[in-house]
Amino acid sequence: MPRTSDRDTLPRILADDVHKDFKLRHTHSIKETALAAVRRKPLTTDFHALDGVSFTIGEGEAVALLGLNGSGKSTMLKMISGVLTADRGKVLTRGRVAGLIEVGAGFHPDLSGRENIYLNAAILGMSRKESADRFDDIVAFSEIEQFIDTEVKHYSSGMFLRLAFSVAIHTEVDILLIDEILSVGDEPFQKKCLARIRELHAQNKTLVVVSHDLDMVSNLCERAIVLRQGKIVFDGPSADGVEVLRRG
Ligand SMILES: Nc1ncnc2c1ncn2[C@@H]1O[C@H](COP(=O)(O)OP(=O)(O)O)[C@@H](O)[C@H]1O
Ligand SMILES: [Mg+2]
Repeated sequence: MPRTSDRDTLPRILADDVHKDFKLRHTHSIKETALAAVRRKPLTTDFHALDGVSFTIGEGEAVALLGLNGSGKSTMLKMISGVLTADRGKVLTRGRVAGLIEVGAGFHPDLSGRENIYLNAAILGMSRKESADRFDDIVAFSEIEQFIDTEVKHYSSGMFLRLAFSVAIHTEVDILLIDEILSVGDEPFQKKCLARIRELHAQNKTLVVVSHDLDMVSNLCERAIVLRQGKIVFDGPSADGVEVLRRG
């Protein structure tokens, strides 16, 4: 049965009038800083990375978060995952959230791949027993058996991705957030990940995906939210969202 965004589903993610500012610094040297202080010029200005963003994403929905560089996509995903908090407004989630947001985030460089699997599984809410039961599957999916006892500081970004993705999809999650990082993997691994993401979608998990591969995301996701300078400019069928983005 096709899933549409207007189907009555339980909300999994709710963003209500979310604002997030970052301070942009204008000065570089001590002299500039002193001069600015004397002239009472502000040293920073607020930059609105997210400027009143509201949406609801239901159970089983796959949503593409689209927008040009700097439009606020990663900031929004970090709010959903809880890494960042809103200055104003709120972001609520229901269920377990796993985020593949920054390559290598959540990994401890001095620990081995094996130790990091246990660490990440614990962060995602798995018990020691659950992680032990799934350990072999996690390693097998990642295809980095050979390096599993190597400290992850020696891993390439592709190897990080393999491990992080593998842990995330072997955890009982309700919401999976994916930020561009799939592009780090090689093509066979990307295909494998995509197949697994489709399976999760079929299992009624909630997905929020950021990718520059517009054909891939509009194929995977039925709905797209398009951001421009921190504001939502479109929320609807993904094919239309891609058009909005391409028109600029
Ligand atoms: N920690 C930060 N400090 C200052 N500015 C930031 C920070 N994180 C993001 N920004 C700025 O906020 C804007 C939105 O960033 P981001 O959410 O990463 O955009 P996107 O993922 O859509 O490319 C960008 O202009 C970026 O430079
Ligand atoms: Mg980004």
